[in-house]
Amino acid sequence: MPRQELDLLAILERDMSLETATHFTALAAQYLADTRERESAVSTGRSSDEIAERFDEPIPLDAQPLETVVGRLRDDVLPDVNRLYHPRYAGHQVSPPLPAAIWCEPLIGALNQSLAVAEMSPVATVLEHRVVRWMCELAGLGAAAGGTLTSGGTEATFTALLAARAAALPDAWTNGVGTNPPVVVCGEHAHYAVARAVGELGLGLHNAVVVPSRGWRMDTEGLALTLDSLAAQERSVMAVVATAGSTATGSFDELEAIGPLCHERGLWLHVDGAHGASALLSETHRDRLRGLAYARSIAWDPHKMMLLPLSAGVLLMREEKDLATAFAQRAPYLFTGDENARQWDQGPRSFQCSRRADVLKLWVAFQRYGVRMMGALYDHLCALARSMYEQLEAHPQFETMHEPESNILCFRWVGDGSFGDEALDAFNRELRESYNRSGEGWITGTNLAGRRVLRVTLMNPRTTTTDVAEIIDGLARQADVMRAAN
Ligand SMILES: Cc1ncc(COP(=O)(O)O)c(C=O)c1O
Repeated sequence: MPRQELDLLAILERDMSLETATHFTALAAQYLADTRERESAVSTGRSSDEIAERFDEPIPLDAQPLETVVGRLRDDVLPDVNRLYHPRYAGHQVSPPLPAAIWCEPLIGALNQSLAVAEMSPVATVLEHRVVRWMCELAGLGAAAGGTLTSGGTEATFTALLAARAAALPDAWTNGVGTNPPVVVCGEHAHYAVARAVGELGLGLHNAVVVPSRGWRMDTEGLALTLDSLAAQERSVMAVVATAGSTATGSFDELEAIGPLCHERGLWLHVDGAHGASALLSETHRDRLRGLAYARSIAWDPHKMMLLPLSAGVLLMREEKDLATAFAQRAPYLFTGDENARQWDQGPRSFQCSRRADVLKLWVAFQRYGVRMMGALYDHLCALARSMYEQLEAHPQFETMHEPESNILCFRWVGDGSFGDEALDAFNRELRESYNRSGEGWITGTNLAGRRVLRVTLMNPRTTTTDVAEIIDGLARQADVMRAAN
Protein backbone atom coordinates (compact mmCIF):
# COMPACT_ATOMS: atom_id res chain seq x y z
CA MET A 1 0.00 0.00 0.00
CA PRO A 2 1.31 3.51 -0.77
CA ARG A 3 2.79 5.31 2.21
CA GLN A 4 0.07 7.99 2.25
CA GLU A 5 -2.68 5.37 2.54
CA LEU A 6 -0.85 3.64 5.36
CA ASP A 7 -0.69 6.95 7.21
CA LEU A 8 -4.35 7.53 6.60
CA LEU A 9 -5.38 4.16 7.97
CA ALA A 10 -3.08 4.61 10.95
CA ILE A 11 -4.69 7.97 11.72
CA LEU A 12 -8.19 6.50 11.46
CA GLU A 13 -7.26 3.54 13.66
CA ARG A 14 -5.73 5.81 16.26
CA ASP A 15 -8.82 8.00 16.22
CA MET A 16 -11.00 4.98 16.95
CA SER A 17 -9.37 4.43 20.32
CA LEU A 18 -10.83 5.10 23.73
CA GLU A 19 -7.95 7.48 24.30
CA THR A 20 -9.07 9.68 21.42
CA ALA A 21 -12.69 9.49 22.53
CA THR A 22 -11.60 10.64 25.95
CA HIS A 23 -10.20 13.87 24.51
CA PHE A 24 -13.73 14.79 23.44
CA THR A 25 -15.67 13.41 26.39
CA ALA A 26 -13.22 15.09 28.77
CA LEU A 27 -14.12 18.44 27.24
CA ALA A 28 -17.80 17.71 27.73
CA ALA A 29 -17.28 16.54 31.33
CA GLN A 30 -15.18 19.62 32.07
CA TYR A 31 -17.95 21.83 30.69
CA LEU A 32 -20.48 20.08 32.95
CA ALA A 33 -18.21 20.53 35.99
CA ASP A 34 -17.42 24.20 35.23
CA THR A 35 -21.03 25.17 34.83
CA ARG A 36 -21.90 23.50 38.15
CA GLU A 37 -19.67 26.01 39.95
CA ARG A 38 -21.75 28.96 38.65
CA GLU A 39 -18.55 30.94 38.17
CA SER A 40 -18.28 31.07 34.39
CA ALA A 41 -20.29 33.56 32.34
CA VAL A 42 -23.58 32.09 31.17
CA SER A 43 -23.04 33.20 27.60
CA THR A 44 -20.64 35.16 25.46
CA GLY A 45 -20.51 38.92 25.18
CA ARG A 46 -19.07 38.60 21.67
CA SER A 47 -21.10 39.25 18.54
CA SER A 48 -21.37 36.80 15.63
CA ASP A 49 -19.11 39.11 13.60
CA GLU A 50 -16.41 39.00 16.28
CA ILE A 51 -16.64 35.22 16.58
CA ALA A 52 -16.55 34.84 12.79
CA GLU A 53 -13.18 36.64 12.65
CA ARG A 54 -11.63 33.84 14.70
CA PHE A 55 -12.75 31.24 12.17
CA ASP A 56 -11.96 33.23 9.06
CA GLU A 57 -9.47 30.79 7.60
CA PRO A 58 -9.08 28.63 4.48
CA ILE A 59 -10.38 25.07 4.38
CA PRO A 60 -7.74 22.71 5.85
CA LEU A 61 -6.19 20.60 3.08
CA ASP A 62 -4.10 18.32 5.26
CA ALA A 63 -4.64 16.32 8.42
CA GLN A 64 -3.62 18.01 11.65
CA PRO A 65 -2.68 16.43 14.97
CA LEU A 66 -5.71 15.49 17.04
CA GLU A 67 -4.38 17.57 19.94
CA THR A 68 -4.45 20.67 17.72
CA VAL A 69 -8.07 20.08 16.73
CA VAL A 70 -9.21 19.33 20.28
CA GLY A 71 -7.26 22.38 21.45
CA ARG A 72 -9.24 24.53 19.01
CA LEU A 73 -12.49 23.16 20.38
CA ARG A 74 -11.31 24.00 23.90
CA ASP A 75 -9.87 27.44 23.13
CA ASP A 76 -11.92 28.72 20.20
CA VAL A 77 -15.34 27.06 20.54
CA LEU A 78 -16.10 26.47 24.20
CA PRO A 79 -15.50 30.03 25.45
CA ASP A 80 -18.37 31.43 23.36
CA VAL A 81 -21.10 28.84 23.78
CA ASN A 82 -24.38 29.39 25.59
CA ARG A 83 -23.90 27.42 28.80
CA LEU A 84 -27.28 25.75 29.08
CA TYR A 85 -26.13 23.81 32.12
CA HIS A 86 -25.32 27.00 34.02
CA PRO A 87 -28.01 27.29 36.72
CA ARG A 88 -28.85 30.86 35.68
CA TYR A 89 -29.45 30.00 32.03
CA ALA A 90 -33.20 30.47 31.66
CA GLY A 91 -33.47 31.13 27.95
CA HIS A 92 -35.10 29.17 25.15
CA GLN A 93 -36.79 25.78 25.23
CA VAL A 94 -33.59 23.84 24.73
CA SER A 95 -32.51 21.41 27.39
CA PRO A 96 -29.41 21.03 29.49
CA PRO A 97 -29.50 17.40 28.41
CA LEU A 98 -29.87 14.40 30.68
CA PRO A 99 -26.32 13.11 31.15
CA ALA A 100 -26.86 9.47 30.17
CA ALA A 101 -28.45 10.70 26.94
CA ILE A 102 -25.43 12.94 26.30
CA TRP A 103 -23.05 10.01 26.63
CA CYS A 104 -25.21 7.95 24.30
CA GLU A 105 -24.56 10.42 21.45
CA PRO A 106 -21.10 9.08 20.51
CA LEU A 107 -22.62 5.62 20.29
CA ILE A 108 -25.36 6.84 17.96
CA GLY A 109 -22.68 8.42 15.79
CA ALA A 110 -20.41 5.39 15.87
CA LEU A 111 -23.17 2.93 14.98
CA ASN A 112 -24.76 5.30 12.42
CA GLN A 113 -27.87 3.22 11.96
CA SER A 114 -30.33 4.81 9.56
CA LEU A 115 -34.03 4.54 10.22
CA ALA A 116 -34.79 4.75 6.48
CA VAL A 117 -35.53 1.04 6.36
CA ALA A 118 -35.41 -1.71 8.98
CA GLU A 119 -32.62 -3.58 7.21
CA MET A 120 -30.34 -0.55 7.82
CA SER A 121 -31.15 -0.39 11.53
CA PRO A 122 -32.36 -3.78 12.73
CA VAL A 123 -32.41 -2.99 16.45
CA ALA A 124 -33.01 0.76 16.30
CA THR A 125 -36.13 0.27 14.15
CA VAL A 126 -37.57 -2.16 16.66
CA LEU A 127 -36.67 0.18 19.53
CA GLU A 128 -38.33 3.10 17.77
CA HIS A 129 -41.57 1.11 17.54
CA ARG A 130 -41.16 0.15 21.21
CA VAL A 131 -40.57 3.70 22.45
CA VAL A 132 -43.38 5.10 20.29
CA ARG A 133 -45.71 2.49 21.81
CA TRP A 134 -44.71 3.47 25.35
CA MET A 135 -45.41 7.10 24.54
CA CYS A 136 -48.74 6.24 22.90
CA GLU A 137 -49.70 4.45 26.10
CA LEU A 138 -48.71 7.48 28.19
CA ALA A 139 -50.90 9.59 25.90
CA GLY A 140 -53.83 7.19 26.38
CA LEU A 141 -53.89 6.09 22.72
CA GLY A 142 -55.10 2.57 21.96
CA ALA A 143 -53.75 -0.49 20.20
CA ALA A 144 -54.15 1.00 16.70
CA ALA A 145 -51.83 3.89 17.50
CA GLY A 146 -48.32 4.40 16.13
CA GLY A 147 -45.87 7.10 15.21
CA THR A 148 -42.40 8.11 14.28
CA LEU A 149 -39.48 10.04 15.65
CA THR A 150 -38.90 13.41 14.01
CA SER A 151 -36.30 16.14 14.07
CA GLY A 152 -38.62 18.08 16.39
CA GLY A 153 -42.01 19.70 16.76
CA THR A 154 -41.91 21.47 13.41
CA GLU A 155 -41.51 18.25 11.47
CA ALA A 156 -44.03 16.44 13.71
CA THR A 157 -46.71 19.06 13.07
CA PHE A 158 -45.93 19.17 9.36
CA THR A 159 -46.28 15.39 9.15
CA ALA A 160 -49.50 15.38 11.17
CA LEU A 161 -51.02 17.97 8.86
CA LEU A 162 -49.81 16.07 5.81
CA ALA A 163 -51.70 13.06 7.16
CA ALA A 164 -54.75 15.26 7.75
CA ARG A 165 -54.46 16.48 4.16
CA ALA A 166 -54.33 12.88 2.91
CA ALA A 167 -57.54 12.18 4.85
CA ALA A 168 -59.31 15.32 3.58
CA LEU A 169 -57.96 15.28 0.01
CA PRO A 170 -56.82 11.72 -0.78
CA ASP A 171 -55.59 12.60 -4.27
CA ALA A 172 -53.70 15.80 -3.31
CA TRP A 173 -50.36 13.94 -3.49
CA THR A 174 -50.93 13.39 -7.21
CA ASN A 175 -53.14 16.26 -8.27
CA GLY A 176 -52.41 19.04 -5.78
CA VAL A 177 -54.91 20.79 -3.55
CA GLY A 178 -56.95 22.57 -6.24
CA THR A 179 -58.30 26.10 -6.07
CA ASN A 180 -60.53 25.70 -3.03
CA PRO A 181 -58.48 23.82 -0.43
CA PRO A 182 -59.69 23.16 3.10
CA VAL A 183 -58.62 25.36 6.00
CA VAL A 184 -56.56 24.71 9.12
CA VAL A 185 -57.79 26.34 12.31
CA CYS A 186 -55.37 27.18 15.10
CA GLY A 187 -54.99 29.48 18.09
CA GLU A 188 -53.45 32.93 18.00
CA HIS A 189 -50.47 31.67 20.00
CA ALA A 190 -49.83 28.52 17.95
CA HIS A 191 -46.18 27.96 17.02
CA TYR A 192 -45.20 29.12 13.54
CA ALA A 193 -44.79 25.44 12.61
CA VAL A 194 -48.55 25.40 11.95
CA ALA A 195 -48.62 28.31 9.50
CA ARG A 196 -45.42 26.99 7.94
CA ALA A 197 -47.02 23.58 7.34
CA VAL A 198 -50.08 25.26 5.80
CA GLY A 199 -47.74 27.05 3.40
CA GLU A 200 -45.65 23.94 2.70
CA LEU A 201 -48.72 21.81 2.04
CA GLY A 202 -49.83 24.19 -0.69
CA LEU A 203 -53.02 25.29 1.07
CA GLY A 204 -52.04 28.96 1.03
CA LEU A 205 -51.59 31.00 4.19
CA HIS A 206 -55.00 32.62 3.86
CA ASN A 207 -56.36 29.15 4.63
CA ALA A 208 -54.83 29.23 8.10
CA VAL A 209 -57.69 30.55 10.22
CA VAL A 210 -56.63 31.99 13.55
CA VAL A 211 -58.81 31.91 16.67
CA PRO A 212 -58.04 34.66 19.20
CA SER A 213 -56.79 33.82 22.67
CA ARG A 214 -58.36 34.43 26.01
CA GLY A 215 -55.94 34.27 28.93
CA TRP A 216 -53.20 33.19 26.47
CA ARG A 217 -55.18 30.07 25.49
CA MET A 218 -57.28 29.47 22.43
CA ASP A 219 -60.69 30.94 23.22
CA THR A 220 -62.90 27.85 23.06
CA GLU A 221 -66.09 29.83 22.45
CA GLY A 222 -64.25 31.67 19.69
CA LEU A 223 -63.32 28.30 18.20
CA ALA A 224 -66.95 27.15 18.21
CA LEU A 225 -68.02 30.40 16.50
CA THR A 226 -65.23 30.06 13.93
CA LEU A 227 -66.18 26.47 13.13
CA ASP A 228 -69.88 27.43 12.81
CA SER A 229 -69.02 30.32 10.55
CA LEU A 230 -66.79 28.14 8.34
CA ALA A 231 -69.58 25.56 8.11
CA ALA A 232 -72.07 28.29 7.15
CA GLN A 233 -69.68 29.35 4.36
CA GLU A 234 -69.38 25.68 3.32
CA ARG A 235 -65.64 25.81 3.80
CA SER A 236 -64.24 22.48 4.82
CA VAL A 237 -61.83 22.18 7.73
CA MET A 238 -58.80 19.95 7.31
CA ALA A 239 -57.69 20.13 10.94
CA VAL A 240 -57.95 22.04 14.17
CA VAL A 241 -54.60 22.52 15.91
CA ALA A 242 -54.58 23.01 19.69
CA THR A 243 -51.45 23.75 21.67
CA ALA A 244 -50.43 22.03 24.87
CA GLY A 245 -47.72 24.25 26.27
CA SER A 246 -47.57 27.34 24.06
CA THR A 247 -44.21 28.77 23.11
CA ALA A 248 -44.72 32.24 24.54
CA THR A 249 -46.38 31.51 27.88
CA GLY A 250 -46.41 27.71 28.27
CA SER A 251 -50.22 27.76 28.42
CA PHE A 252 -52.39 24.76 27.69
CA ASP A 253 -55.43 24.99 25.39
CA GLU A 254 -58.53 23.40 26.93
CA LEU A 255 -58.48 20.04 25.20
CA GLU A 256 -61.44 18.82 27.21
CA ALA A 257 -63.59 21.47 25.56
CA ILE A 258 -61.87 21.61 22.17
CA GLY A 259 -61.86 17.80 21.77
CA PRO A 260 -65.66 17.38 21.85
CA LEU A 261 -66.12 20.37 19.49
CA CYS A 262 -63.92 18.59 16.93
CA HIS A 263 -65.40 15.17 17.64
CA GLU A 264 -69.01 16.37 17.09
CA ARG A 265 -68.05 17.85 13.75
CA GLY A 266 -65.86 14.93 12.66
CA LEU A 267 -62.75 17.15 12.53
CA TRP A 268 -59.13 16.09 12.81
CA LEU A 269 -57.65 17.45 16.05
CA HIS A 270 -53.89 17.82 16.11
CA VAL A 271 -52.36 18.67 19.48
CA ASP A 272 -49.03 20.46 19.35
CA GLY A 273 -47.64 19.18 22.63
CA ALA A 274 -44.04 19.77 21.56
CA HIS A 275 -43.43 21.54 24.84
CA GLY A 276 -46.20 20.39 27.16
CA ALA A 277 -46.90 16.74 26.33
CA SER A 278 -44.12 15.84 28.76
CA ALA A 279 -46.60 16.79 31.51
CA LEU A 280 -47.90 13.26 30.87
CA LEU A 281 -44.87 12.04 32.84
CA SER A 282 -45.96 13.95 35.93
CA GLU A 283 -48.65 12.85 38.36
CA THR A 284 -49.10 16.49 39.35
CA HIS A 285 -49.33 18.07 35.89
CA ARG A 286 -50.79 15.39 33.63
CA ASP A 287 -54.30 16.76 34.19
CA ARG A 288 -53.41 19.72 32.02
CA LEU A 289 -53.74 17.32 29.08
CA ARG A 290 -57.20 16.05 29.99
CA GLY A 291 -59.02 15.55 26.69
CA LEU A 292 -55.88 14.51 24.82
CA ALA A 293 -57.58 11.26 23.81
CA TYR A 294 -59.65 13.31 21.31
CA ALA A 295 -56.46 14.03 19.35
CA ARG A 296 -55.91 12.20 16.11
CA SER A 297 -52.26 13.27 16.13
CA ILE A 298 -49.89 14.59 18.79
CA ALA A 299 -46.49 16.30 18.50
CA TRP A 300 -44.27 15.66 21.53
CA ASP A 301 -40.65 16.78 21.75
CA PRO A 302 -38.45 14.81 24.14
CA HIS A 303 -35.73 17.37 23.35
CA LYS A 304 -37.75 19.93 25.29
CA MET A 305 -39.24 18.93 28.65
CA MET A 306 -37.86 15.40 28.71
CA LEU A 307 -34.45 17.08 28.59
CA LEU A 308 -33.02 15.07 25.71
CA PRO A 309 -30.19 16.52 23.63
CA LEU A 310 -31.19 17.81 20.19
CA SER A 311 -32.67 16.33 18.32
CA ALA A 312 -35.47 14.11 19.48
CA GLY A 313 -39.04 14.78 18.39
CA VAL A 314 -41.97 12.38 18.27
CA LEU A 315 -45.23 12.29 16.34
CA LEU A 316 -47.94 10.02 17.73
CA MET A 317 -51.00 9.03 15.70
CA ARG A 318 -54.20 7.61 17.12
CA GLU A 319 -54.42 5.46 13.98
CA GLU A 320 -51.05 4.25 12.76
CA LYS A 321 -52.57 3.76 9.31
CA ASP A 322 -53.08 7.53 8.97
CA LEU A 323 -49.33 7.91 9.06
CA ALA A 324 -48.75 5.01 6.69
CA THR A 325 -50.94 6.75 4.08
CA ALA A 326 -49.63 10.30 4.68
CA PHE A 327 -46.65 9.88 2.39
CA ALA A 328 -47.96 8.20 -0.75
CA GLN A 329 -44.36 7.72 -1.77
CA ARG A 330 -43.25 5.12 -4.28
CA ALA A 331 -39.54 4.28 -4.20
CA PRO A 332 -39.16 0.69 -5.36
CA TYR A 333 -35.35 0.92 -5.12
CA LEU A 334 -35.69 1.31 -1.33
CA PHE A 335 -39.19 0.51 -0.12
CA THR A 336 -40.14 -3.05 -0.95
CA GLY A 337 -43.76 -4.12 -1.18
CA ASP A 338 -43.02 -6.86 1.33
CA GLU A 339 -45.69 -7.14 4.03
CA ASN A 340 -43.24 -7.65 6.90
CA ALA A 341 -41.02 -4.75 5.81
CA ARG A 342 -44.10 -2.51 5.60
CA GLN A 343 -44.84 -3.26 9.22
CA TRP A 344 -41.37 -2.19 10.42
CA ASP A 345 -39.82 0.25 7.93
CA GLN A 346 -40.09 3.81 9.26
CA GLY A 347 -38.90 5.58 6.08
CA PRO A 348 -42.30 5.40 4.38
CA ARG A 349 -43.78 7.06 7.48
CA SER A 350 -41.20 9.83 7.72
CA PHE A 351 -40.38 13.15 6.06
CA GLN A 352 -36.70 12.16 6.25
CA CYS A 353 -34.94 9.37 4.37
CA SER A 354 -31.58 8.90 6.15
CA ARG A 355 -32.42 9.45 9.79
CA ARG A 356 -30.32 9.19 12.94
CA ALA A 357 -31.15 6.54 15.52
CA ASP A 358 -32.07 9.23 18.05
CA VAL A 359 -34.33 6.63 19.60
CA LEU A 360 -31.28 5.11 21.27
CA LYS A 361 -30.77 8.08 23.58
CA LEU A 362 -34.50 8.26 24.26
CA TRP A 363 -34.59 4.57 25.12
CA VAL A 364 -31.50 5.05 27.33
CA ALA A 365 -33.17 7.99 29.11
CA PHE A 366 -36.27 5.88 29.84
CA GLN A 367 -34.10 3.00 31.06
CA ARG A 368 -31.77 5.09 33.19
CA TYR A 369 -34.21 7.59 34.72
CA GLY A 370 -37.65 6.07 34.25
CA VAL A 371 -40.94 7.91 33.87
CA ARG A 372 -41.07 8.81 37.57
CA MET A 373 -37.75 10.60 37.69
CA MET A 374 -38.41 12.48 34.45
CA GLY A 375 -41.84 13.41 35.81
CA ALA A 376 -40.20 14.67 39.01
CA LEU A 377 -37.86 16.83 36.93
CA TYR A 378 -40.86 18.25 35.08
CA ASP A 379 -42.45 19.06 38.46
CA HIS A 380 -39.23 20.68 39.71
CA LEU A 381 -39.02 22.97 36.66
CA CYS A 382 -42.67 24.00 36.99
CA ALA A 383 -42.18 24.64 40.73
CA LEU A 384 -39.25 26.92 39.91
CA ALA A 385 -41.44 28.94 37.54
CA ARG A 386 -44.06 29.17 40.29
CA SER A 387 -41.44 30.38 42.76
CA MET A 388 -40.20 32.97 40.30
CA TYR A 389 -43.78 34.13 39.74
CA GLU A 390 -44.26 34.58 43.51
CA GLN A 391 -40.95 36.39 43.89
CA LEU A 392 -41.80 38.75 41.02
CA GLU A 393 -45.29 39.39 42.37
CA ALA A 394 -43.68 40.53 45.63
CA HIS A 395 -41.14 42.74 43.84
CA PRO A 396 -42.12 46.40 43.42
CA GLN A 397 -40.30 46.88 40.11
CA PHE A 398 -41.69 43.94 38.13
CA GLU A 399 -45.06 42.90 36.78
CA THR A 400 -45.96 39.33 35.79
CA MET A 401 -47.98 38.77 32.62
CA HIS A 402 -49.61 35.48 33.65
CA GLU A 403 -49.52 32.68 36.20
CA PRO A 404 -47.22 29.92 34.97
CA GLU A 405 -48.91 26.73 33.76
CA SER A 406 -45.59 25.06 33.12
CA ASN A 407 -41.95 26.18 33.32
CA ILE A 408 -42.37 29.29 31.16
CA LEU A 409 -43.03 32.73 32.62
CA CYS A 410 -43.40 36.18 31.05
CA PHE A 411 -42.99 39.39 33.01
CA ARG A 412 -41.62 42.88 32.59
CA TRP A 413 -39.79 45.56 34.46
CA VAL A 414 -42.14 48.45 35.28
CA GLY A 415 -39.95 50.41 37.70
CA ASP A 416 -41.86 53.05 39.63
CA GLY A 417 -44.72 53.02 37.13
CA SER A 418 -43.79 56.33 35.53
CA PHE A 419 -43.03 54.92 32.04
CA GLY A 420 -45.62 54.60 29.29
CA ASP A 421 -46.01 51.35 27.35
CA GLU A 422 -43.78 52.41 24.44
CA ALA A 423 -40.97 53.43 26.76
CA LEU A 424 -41.38 50.21 28.73
CA ASP A 425 -41.09 48.16 25.53
CA ALA A 426 -37.79 49.83 24.68
CA PHE A 427 -36.54 49.59 28.27
CA ASN A 428 -37.33 45.88 28.59
CA ARG A 429 -35.75 45.12 25.22
CA GLU A 430 -32.54 46.86 26.29
CA LEU A 431 -32.70 45.35 29.79
CA ARG A 432 -32.69 41.83 28.41
CA GLU A 433 -29.78 42.55 26.11
CA SER A 434 -27.59 44.20 28.70
CA TYR A 435 -28.38 41.58 31.36
CA ASN A 436 -27.46 38.78 28.95
CA ARG A 437 -24.27 40.60 27.93
CA SER A 438 -23.26 40.78 31.61
CA GLY A 439 -22.85 36.97 31.64
CA GLU A 440 -24.61 36.76 35.04
CA GLY A 441 -27.64 35.02 33.59
CA TRP A 442 -29.48 34.58 30.30
CA ILE A 443 -33.18 35.10 29.59
CA THR A 444 -35.36 35.60 26.52
CA GLY A 445 -37.97 38.13 25.51
CA THR A 446 -41.17 37.91 23.51
CA ASN A 447 -44.13 39.98 22.31
CA LEU A 448 -47.40 39.55 24.18
CA ALA A 449 -50.50 41.45 23.13
CA GLY A 450 -48.29 43.95 21.32
CA ARG A 451 -45.99 44.59 24.28
CA ARG A 452 -42.33 43.62 24.64
CA VAL A 453 -41.86 41.44 27.72
CA LEU A 454 -39.17 39.38 29.40
CA ARG A 455 -39.48 35.61 29.37
CA VAL A 456 -37.81 32.70 31.10
CA THR A 457 -37.96 29.00 30.36
CA LEU A 458 -36.64 27.11 33.37
CA MET A 459 -35.19 23.92 31.91
CA ASN A 460 -32.28 23.22 34.20
CA PRO A 461 -32.43 20.60 36.96
CA ARG A 462 -29.59 22.45 38.69
CA THR A 463 -31.45 25.75 38.97
CA THR A 464 -32.63 26.52 42.51
CA THR A 465 -35.02 29.12 43.91
CA THR A 466 -31.89 31.05 44.97
CA ASP A 467 -30.68 31.12 41.35
CA VAL A 468 -34.09 32.42 40.35
CA ALA A 469 -33.85 35.13 43.03
CA GLU A 470 -30.42 36.04 41.68
CA ILE A 471 -31.78 36.38 38.15
CA ILE A 472 -34.42 38.80 39.46
CA ASP A 473 -31.83 40.74 41.52
CA GLY A 474 -29.47 40.87 38.55
CA LEU A 475 -32.21 42.27 36.31
CA ALA A 476 -33.19 44.86 38.93
CA ARG A 477 -29.54 45.93 39.33
CA GLN A 478 -29.09 46.18 35.58
CA ALA A 479 -32.26 48.28 35.36
CA ASP A 480 -30.86 50.66 38.01
CA VAL A 481 -27.64 51.01 36.02
CA MET A 482 -29.61 51.77 32.85
CA ARG A 483 -31.75 54.37 34.62
CA ALA A 484 -28.71 56.03 36.18
CA ALA A 485 -27.08 56.26 32.74
CA ASN A 486 -30.11 58.01 31.16
C1 LIG B 1 -45.33 24.71 21.02
C2 LIG B 1 -44.19 24.45 20.07
N1 LIG B 1 -44.40 23.77 18.95
C3 LIG B 1 -43.41 23.51 18.08
C4 LIG B 1 -42.14 23.97 18.30
C5 LIG B 1 -41.06 23.69 17.29
O1 LIG B 1 -40.29 22.64 17.74
P1 LIG B 1 -38.87 22.30 17.08
O2 LIG B 1 -38.01 23.49 17.31
O3 LIG B 1 -38.44 21.09 17.81
O4 LIG B 1 -39.09 22.05 15.63
C6 LIG B 1 -41.87 24.70 19.46
C7 LIG B 1 -40.51 25.21 19.70
O5 LIG B 1 -40.25 26.10 20.45
C8 LIG B 1 -42.92 24.95 20.38
O6 LIG B 1 -42.73 25.66 21.50
